[in-house]
Amino acid sequence: MSEQKRTFVCHVDDLPPGTMKFLPVGKQGIGVYNVKGDFYALSNYCPHRGAPLCLGPVSGEVRPGDEPYELTWERDQEIVRCPWHGWEFEIATGNALALKNHKARSWPVTVEDGSVYVEGV
Ligand code: FES
Repeated sequence: MSEQKRTFVCHVDDLPPGTMKFLPVGKQGIGVYNVKGDFYALSNYCPHRGAPLCLGPVSGEVRPGDEPYELTWERDQEIVRCPWHGWEFEIATGNALALKNHKARSWPVTVEDGSVYVEGV
């Protein structure tokens, strides 16, 4: 039986909601995010032109409201914006918001005995 590779990130208390820890693995590294208590790992490589995606700000999304010309702010802390050209990605999945056929690579994250791990790296 082969064991799944995993990499220790930090203690869970060192990655509070709304923060990101950079994991210097592989060619570009991985950003590990705490989004409202759930953990996600995204490649630090933007699929558009290769920018260091995880240096971009964590944000939300402006959506049309119920009334004409009304805008609402939604999904706060769930989106990362690429620092080069502003493409936005859902942290939970890596999916680009505007271009559904583009995706940043992602990995599963687990928490075990108070420690955060990225699986498969
Ligand atoms: S390199 Fe990320 S949006 Fe262009």
